[in-house]
Amino acid sequence: TVKVPKDRTIDNTLAIFKDGYEFISKRVQNNHLDVYETRVLGEKVALLSGEEGAKLFYDTNRMNRKNALPGRVLKTLFGEDAIQTMDGKAHTHRKLLFMSLMTPEALASLKVITNKHWDQFANKWEGKKKVVLYDETRELLCRTACEWAGVPLKEKEVEKRTRDLSNMIDGFSAVGPKHIESRRARKRTEKWIEDLILDVREGKQQAQKGTAIYEMAMHKDLHGNPLDARMAAIELINVIRPLVAISKFITFGALAFYQFPRTIAKAANEDDYLLRFTQEVRRYYPFVPFLGARVDHDFTWQQYDFKEGQLVMIDIYGTNHDPRLWENPDEFIPDRFLNWNGGLYDLIPQGGGDYYKGHRCPGEQPTIEILKTSFRYMTNHLDYEVPKQDYSYSLRKMPALPKSGFIIKNVHRQ
Ligand code: HEM
Repeated sequence: TVKVPKDRTIDNTLAIFKDGYEFISKRVQNNHLDVYETRVLGEKVALLSGEEGAKLFYDTNRMNRKNALPGRVLKTLFGEDAIQTMDGKAHTHRKLLFMSLMTPEALASLKVITNKHWDQFANKWEGKKKVVLYDETRELLCRTACEWAGVPLKEKEVEKRTRDLSNMIDGFSAVGPKHIESRRARKRTEKWIEDLILDVREGKQQAQKGTAIYEMAMHKDLHGNPLDARMAAIELINVIRPLVAISKFITFGALAFYQFPRTIAKAANEDDYLLRFTQEVRRYYPFVPFLGARVDHDFTWQQYDFKEGQLVMIDIYGTNHDPRLWENPDEFIPDRFLNWNGGLYDLIPQGGGDYYKGHRCPGEQPTIEILKTSFRYMTNHLDYEVPKQDYSYSLRKMPALPKSGFIIKNVHRQ
């Protein structure tokens, strides 16, 4: 029988930082495999990559999320006891709450709101010497997210809220002051949103049915009880925080327009191409590196013995660049999506599988809508120059981003 190779090194925790986004693919794909065993933080971890690996990772009969996330991630990025940590019926019920926010009407209104804020920011940029696109689009999206979710945002707090929402994301993998600031950002944000949830419940804050603030405030769990106000706040933050993070994809999209200028005219004029460009931005550029789950019960798969409770990691970046799935995976080719069959386990920048049955990101459609709206705006309504700058990004630094944040100048609205 073929033995699944195992790392001979005692512990690969440091290699995660050295290899970054390529930590898993270097080990799994380079050996032409779907699974590979290594040790991280003293634990035996099964690394999965590719379409077959993703299918197994998203098989909820064999994997669960109990204790799959380290405390440092929960105290910054996600919030404790939220949907990301749930399994079974309780997870399905909570997931329906998120999916109920994504109606066609809600997505149409998201487009209108996004466009309005692009207009306002483009106006403002016209008078500026230079614009750091990443910083500006974070604020643009913070305003968009709050308006869409029904969260009131005072003008004087916009900057602080934007900073906190992005620090929660950027600080989870950091050590030292950056990580501590990330925890503080979460605490401040939870307090802010929890007070709003209480105001909605007491009728002090108006909220429209169908908005995230209303639905989180009024949601009842499987036993018919309302969510604890802090829990409702954490789930509402699970809507606005990732929406702000779409600024990373917008920044990478701007880089793509610059690096591959032939894409601009087509994105401006063809709606189908705009979607293919958006999908290629989500596939090609590094964002989420990998995700974790735990083995539900002992089983054998591809001659590897998975042990109950064992940590498993799926390769997100590597699967999006798997040469078995994508021809010339390291080239930016939007038209590859002309022949894409819409697989649930190949394009997985926001997780794989079924929205309702598993943990796939419920925000994928809104993300695609916001990106299309933004890229359409940039190609149809904005003229700008790209000055000399260091827009390189490193696959060793997670999360990745162009160093300059992508600077544009001489911005004009058309
Ligand atoms: C889950 C990525 C935008 C809400 C996830 C997962 C990933 C992801 C990788 C985990 C899948 C898993 O655990 O298996 C992203 C990226 C985004 C984005 C890259 C764009 C920048 C959004 C938006 C929303 C959202 C806009 C809300 C409107 C969520 C929620 C979950 C989730 C609530 C947890 C789902 C669950 O555990 O069942 N996302 N997401 N995300 N995302 Fe997103």
